[in-house]
Amino acid sequence: MKSFFGVDYYPEHWPIEMMDADLDRMIDMGVEVVRIGEFAWHIMEREEGQYDFSFFDMVIDKLKKKGIKVIFGTPTATPPAWLINKYPEILQRDENLMPRSFGGRRMYCYNNEIYKEYTRKIVTKLAEHYKNEDTIIAWQIDNEFGHEGSDVCFCDTCKSGFRKFLSEKYSSIDMLNKTWGTVFWSQTYNSFDEVPLPLKTITHHNPSMQLDFKRFMSKSINDYAKMQVDILREILGESAVITTNIAGGYFDKNFDHNKMGKMMDVASYDNYPVWGGLKEPITPANIAMDLDFIRGLKRQNFWIVEELMGAQGHTIIGYLPRPNQAKMWAYQAVAHGAQSILFFRYRTATFGTEEFCLGIIDQDNREGRKYREVKEFFSDVKKHKELLQSEIKSEVAFLYDYDNIWAWKIQQQSTAFNFKEEMLNLYTSFYKHNVHIDVLDVKDDFSSYKVVVLPVMMIVDEELKARLEDFAKKGGTVLFTYRTAIKDRNNNLYLGKVMPCNLTHLTGIEVEEIESLQEGQFAFADGKFGTTKCKVMREMININGAEAIYKYNDKFYNEKACVTINEFGQGKVYYIGSSLDNEILCEIAKEIIIDKDIEHYTTPMGVEVYSRYLNDKKYLFIMNHTDEEHDIFGIKLMPYDSKIIEVK
Ligand code: GAL
Ligand code: ZN
Repeated sequence: MKSFFGVDYYPEHWPIEMMDADLDRMIDMGVEVVRIGEFAWHIMEREEGQYDFSFFDMVIDKLKKKGIKVIFGTPTATPPAWLINKYPEILQRDENLMPRSFGGRRMYCYNNEIYKEYTRKIVTKLAEHYKNEDTIIAWQIDNEFGHEGSDVCFCDTCKSGFRKFLSEKYSSIDMLNKTWGTVFWSQTYNSFDEVPLPLKTITHHNPSMQLDFKRFMSKSINDYAKMQVDILREILGESAVITTNIAGGYFDKNFDHNKMGKMMDVASYDNYPVWGGLKEPITPANIAMDLDFIRGLKRQNFWIVEELMGAQGHTIIGYLPRPNQAKMWAYQAVAHGAQSILFFRYRTATFGTEEFCLGIIDQDNREGRKYREVKEFFSDVKKHKELLQSEIKSEVAFLYDYDNIWAWKIQQQSTAFNFKEEMLNLYTSFYKHNVHIDVLDVKDDFSSYKVVVLPVMMIVDEELKARLEDFAKKGGTVLFTYRTAIKDRNNNLYLGKVMPCNLTHLTGIEVEEIESLQEGQFAFADGKFGTTKCKVMREMININGAEAIYKYNDKFYNEKACVTINEFGQGKVYYIGSSLDNEILCEIAKEIIIDKDIEHYTTPMGVEVYSRYLNDKKYLFIMNHTDEEHDIFGIKLMPYDSKIIEVK
């Protein structure tokens, strides 16, 4: 897979007379590739069946003359008005059964047969038209699946689809009743046709049912995506490169991103460290975790097909990245494995919902600071293309499981709980030591890592238990947190088992009682690295073989452990029974990193170092995420400075 740099370009947003000058400017900027087409259905099919690709033929022709390559997007994120007016049943319905209106984007139901048929037609025509066009180096299907709330639908098609999904999953309605525990509140169904969608009700739907509904939505989205992939593959052949741009907020969406990522030839991401009304960007660790998550989808380097350059927002404009800050984010992205980057967008639109999604060039059409930053970045990273394609090896893996994430969404258990924040708190504690981290689906093979971290992994089944025991036995370090292994795959509790269920042997502990702590509510624990606040939840742990390194500082529970370590085989198992202060987690992470002899670097707060290796040579990517100057390894870093250096 090659490495290339470019911009997201919407030639349909500008007078055609501007195109030649725009392309010359792109060449001057260092652009090698543009992404086009992803929202332009109406241009390609003005009226039903009247396919016309002449506009994009002309665009591609001009690009080709300049030597600029193309990523072409299928336009299905924005169905045309004629289609929605003819078949309004294509529209998704929200949980109050109200249809989403034409006007925004992504308003179609993934299961609607009519929409699938029109999708097949436009994608087929497009691919057939361009199948011999070698200027097109890759295809993007749709745009940001599930984003902006488009990951759920309650229409009649989805209702019958859900029932069919259930009847295929459960051998009989009795089986479903038993698994879900529908005897509770007299919810027993006599047939699959009685099962409702989880629409608004009084209190809440059954947790097992809700989890199955999320799995059904996930399957619906992934099946729809696969349909497009299959069409493109069939027409364009094995050599075609197919991707889709994954949006931020991946842990909040109703589809398994791992399944989506694995069906693509390369995983792509839209990297927006700040958006809309945010007063400041998300943390450097958060951006890094996002990048590591995308790299983990296929366990290989990836692309960024939208990298923020200007401030972004639909109605509220966001934070203005400080001089060199957006450029620094691009360096951070390449450090973490983005081997290709396209900046969003070439120029700010003067109309439409995204007038305030500012581009490299603003509406004044002048080359300013952002232009210079992109140009400098392109010219620098192009010297390192081979390095950017080198494999990243990590010894620490963070494991997630969409069933578990959804189970937490269904039952938050504390108002202070947020899955991503819990994951990020732990991730940050390792990130601060500048180690490589892979963020992986728990089903992936983790046996070759030195450390695996399983944040708030409520659902642990026999198979995972066995893999973890084997891992620890052979010398691996496992880190669990509170609420581990309390649920089975059906989202039910275990009868007659002590928590962490099936893992008391591995962890050497028993959880006797739990307390949910709400927003702003804390307990305290004392131990090895000083006092810590305990937030979100806390577990009163009895030791059964493990060593307590933290105990609660508390009138009633001061004999109960909060953090424990157990020796298991040749390995170690940490259990953290609450959400702790990051400084304390950092100390725990450091202890593990040193114990396992993992490559790491000590840097001033906000200065990130990421090592990469190529042909026996070592390089460091250095990013200053702060607005202050720093000196590191004898190198002076200006505010938001970034450097790629070879280490002798
Ligand atoms: C992305 C999206 C783009 C554009 C951009 C604005 O999420 O893929 O189409 O909306 O945000 O920042
Ligand atoms: Zn639907």
